[in-house]
Amino acid sequence: MVSRVIPVERFDLVIFGGTGDLARRKILPGLHRRYLAGQMPEDSQIIGAARADLDEQGYRDLIRDAIKEFGDPKDQDETRLGDFLNHISYVSIDATGEKGWGTLAEKIRPGLIHAYYFSVGPGLFGDLAERLHKHGIADERSRIVVEKPFGHDLESARALNRVLAEHFDECQVYRIDHYLGKETVQNLMAVRFANILFEPLWNSQYVDHIQITVSETVGVGGRGAYYDKSGAMRDMVQNHLMQLLCLIAMEPPSRFGPDEVRDEKLKVIRALEPVDPHHIVRGQYSATADEPSYRDDAGDPRSLTESFIALKCHISNWRWSGTPFYLRTGKKLKARESEIVVVFKDAPHLIFGQESGQHCNTLAIRLQPNEGMTLGMTIKDPGPGGMRLIDVPLDMTFAEALGEDIDDAPDAYERLIMDVMRGNQTLFMRGDEVEAAWGWTDPIIAGWQDRGEVPKPYDVGSSGPEDAMMLMHRDGRRWREIKE
Ligand code: BG6
Repeated sequence: MVSRVIPVERFDLVIFGGTGDLARRKILPGLHRRYLAGQMPEDSQIIGAARADLDEQGYRDLIRDAIKEFGDPKDQDETRLGDFLNHISYVSIDATGEKGWGTLAEKIRPGLIHAYYFSVGPGLFGDLAERLHKHGIADERSRIVVEKPFGHDLESARALNRVLAEHFDECQVYRIDHYLGKETVQNLMAVRFANILFEPLWNSQYVDHIQITVSETVGVGGRGAYYDKSGAMRDMVQNHLMQLLCLIAMEPPSRFGPDEVRDEKLKVIRALEPVDPHHIVRGQYSATADEPSYRDDAGDPRSLTESFIALKCHISNWRWSGTPFYLRTGKKLKARESEIVVVFKDAPHLIFGQESGQHCNTLAIRLQPNEGMTLGMTIKDPGPGGMRLIDVPLDMTFAEALGEDIDDAPDAYERLIMDVMRGNQTLFMRGDEVEAAWGWTDPIIAGWQDRGEVPKPYDVGSSGPEDAMMLMHRDGRRWREIKE
C-alpha cells in the first residue's frame, strides 16, 4: 500500500485531564498510532496536565500501561513505544489556582502550533481558558479542543460558548463529536456528494422514510451517575444521531470546507419540526437473572431516565417535506450496530401484477461494525413459475472492497486530533450548531419532565420496548432488524 500519511506541522499538545479515562483510553493511544504512522513529527511534544502529583516517569508509566491496555495489539513494539513516550511530559496543575502554570508556560515553545485539549468537566473551561491567556501561552495560532457533553441544555451550552468566546475566536474552538471522525460517517458525504446516482432520488418524492439506528450492547454501569442526569436523548440523540441526521439530510455544500458543511448542517437542525410527544418512545432496561437493571446501574431505584429512545421527526424543507425520519438508540440491546437505512418508495405501477407483491429499494449504510453498504434490489426469482419477484442484497463490505486500507485507517480520535493540528474544523461542531440542537431537544425533555413520564421497560438483549415497534407499525412501516 502506498502511504498517504502526510505529517502535520510540529506541535505542543497539552491534555488537561491527562490522567483521565478519555486521555488513557482514546487520546494517547490515538496519538501513539499517529506517531507510528509517521504523522506526528519527531519534534512535537505532548504534555499531560492534571491535579495528580506525578513525576514525569510516573506519568509515562501510566501512559505506557494505558497504551498496552487500550492500544492496538499490533502496535506494541517496545522500542517504538519508548520513542513515543520520550515525547511526553507531565505537569501537576491546578485549573482553578496558580499551581503548575509557570512550569507549563516554560514548556510551551513559541512559534509552534499549541493545542489545548480540555478533557475535563465543562465547569473548568472558563478557568482554563482564562489562565492560558494570563500566562501568555495562548495566541491566535492556539486551538482548544472540548468534548461532549457540551452543556446539558440550550442555556448551559450558550453559557459555555460565551465563556470560550471571551478568550478564543470560534475558529480556534474544536468541539468534538467523535461520530464525525468515524470513517464511515465521512463516507456518508462521499456516497452522497461524489456519486450522481443517488442525488436525483434523495428527496421526499422518492424516499419513503429514513431510519437511523445506533444500538449498543453496553449498559451504563460504571458511569451511571453521569448518565442518569443525561439519558439517551442528551447522551446520544442531541449529538451523535443529530449529526448523522444532518449528514444524510443536508443539501450539498458548495465545497468540503468547514463553514460550507456546517452551514448546511445547521439548516437541517433549524428545519426540524418540534416532535409530537406521541411520536417518542422512551425505554429503560430491566434486570435479568444475571444482569442488573438500568436503575441498579444508575444507583437510583426510582430513576425516570431513559436508556433507550425511538422517535419520529420531520424536516420542514423542500427536499424532505413529508418524509419521516425515525431515530432510535439504546443501551443493552441485542447487538452493537449503527446503521442508516434509506427506504425508497414503491415503484409507481406494478407491471408484474399484484401477486408479484410490493417491493421497494433500500440503501443501508452500516457505520459499525462491518462498515459497508447494502443496496436492496428486486429481481426475478430464478427458475420457472412465472414472474415472481424477490429482494436481494447488493452487498459491499468496505473491508472486503478496500482490504488493508480500511484496517489502517485512523480511528475517530486519531483523525480528529490530527485535524486539530491541521486547523481543519470541518468535522467539528460549531457553536451555533450545538445550540440549535439543544434548542430542538430541550422542549422534548421538558415535556417528559412536566408529564412525569415513566420510560417503558425493555429486556436486556432485545430491540427495545414493544412501543418502539408500534411507532413504525402504526405508519405501516417496520424497523430493520438489529442483527445479533
Ligand atoms: C458516547 C456516549 O459519546 O458515545 C456513550 O457518551 C456511547 O454513552 C458512545 O456508548 C458510543 O460511541 P461508539 O463509538 O462506541 O459508537
